[in-house]
Amino acid sequence: MAPRPPVRSTKSRGPNRRLWLLLSLPLLALVSLQAAAAILRRANALGRRCAAPAVAEYSGRAPPDPRPRIAIVSFSAEENSRGVGGGGRRSFRGVMDAVGGNKRAYAERMGYDFIDARRLVDPSRPPNWSKILAIRSHLRHYDWLFWNDADTLVTNPDISLESILNVAIGYSDLKASPDLVVTEDFNGVNSGVFFFRRSEWSEKFLDTWWNQTSFVRFGSTLSGDNAAMKHLIDSLPSEELRDHVRVSPMQCLFNSYPWFPTWKNAHRLISSPLTTWRGAYSDGDFMVHLAGLDEKKKWVAKILRELREGGR
Ligand SMILES: *[C@@H]1O[C@H](CO)[C@@H](O)[C@H](O)[C@H]1NC(C)=O
Ligand SMILES: *[C@@H]1O[C@H](CO)[C@@H](O)[C@H](O)[C@H]1NC(C)=O
Repeated sequence: MAPRPPVRSTKSRGPNRRLWLLLSLPLLALVSLQAAAAILRRANALGRRCAAPAVAEYSGRAPPDPRPRIAIVSFSAEENSRGVGGGGRRSFRGVMDAVGGNKRAYAERMGYDFIDARRLVDPSRPPNWSKILAIRSHLRHYDWLFWNDADTLVTNPDISLESILNVAIGYSDLKASPDLVVTEDFNGVNSGVFFFRRSEWSEKFLDTWWNQTSFVRFGSTLSGDNAAMKHLIDSLPSEELRDHVRVSPMQCLFNSYPWFPTWKNAHRLISSPLTTWRGAYSDGDFMVHLAGLDEKKKWVAKILRELREGGR
C-alpha cells in the first residue's frame, strides 16, 4: 500500500500538541511510568494552562482598590489527635512546623494574614473536621479565607490569591463572586484546599457542614469531612450551586498532587488521563498537596529543597 501523504493541520500547534499528549498519556504509562512522571512534572512547560489567560492580564495590573482582606488558615493535626496524626507512616508530626515558614513567608510577601488555627481543634471529632470551626470563627474578620490542609506547600509564591480567585470565577469583581471556590480530583470535590468568601451563605454552609454528624468516621484514613462536603454540594439545587459554588476546571490552579510511579497512580493515569493531567503537580504550579501520601515530612523536605535549588 502506498503511504498516505501526511495530513497537515491548519490549527495552531498549541492545542494539537496538548491533545496529542493527552491521547498518548496512557500509552506512555505502559511504556514507561518514569517517562510519564517526567512529562507530568513538566506539564506546564508542555503547554498545560492551570490559569486561563485572564490571570496574566490581571496580575500585571495594580490590585483593585480596596484590596480584599484575605487570610490563609491552616493547622496541624499533631496535638489533640485521635487515631490520626499521632504517629505511623501517614503522620503529620513535624509537618506543620516544616510548612509553616513557607506559608508565613508567602502571606507576608503578599500582605495576607496567616492564621495557625491549631488551638481550635475539637477533640470530639477527628481533627480534620475542625477546619470547619477554624474557618467559621475567622470568617467575619476577612473578605476571603483560604483554607489549606497541613500537608500543602506554596510552590509558586509569585501567584496571588486574588489572581487565583479571578481565574476561578472568571471575572475580577470578587465582591460579586460565588462564596465557595474548590477543586476536583479523582474522587470529586476535595476539601483539603478551598476558599470561602464572607457571606451569610458561607456561614450557613459551614454550620450545615459541621452538622453532618453521620459522616464522622474514627480510626480510618478518611475522617468523613470530605464526604460530608461533597454530599452537601451534591444536594444543592442547581441554581444555588451555580450562584454560590465554583469548581475550578483545572485542579492545578491551586491544589496539585504529586504524580510518581505507583500502581495506584498508573491506574489513575490510564483510567482518568484528563483528571491526572489537570491535577498533577508541575513546576510553576501554585500549591502542592500531599493528599493521601505517606512520609509527608520527607515529601515536604524534598519539595522545599527542589524549590530552593530552582531559585524560588
Ligand atoms: C446545626 O445544629 C445545631 C444543633 O443541633 C442547630 O441549633 C443549628 O440550627 C444547626 N444549623 C444548621 C445550619 O443546620
Ligand atoms: C486529614 O487531612 C489530611 C490532609 O489532606 C489527609 O491526608 C488525611 O488523610 C485526612 N485524615 C483523615 C482522617 O481524613
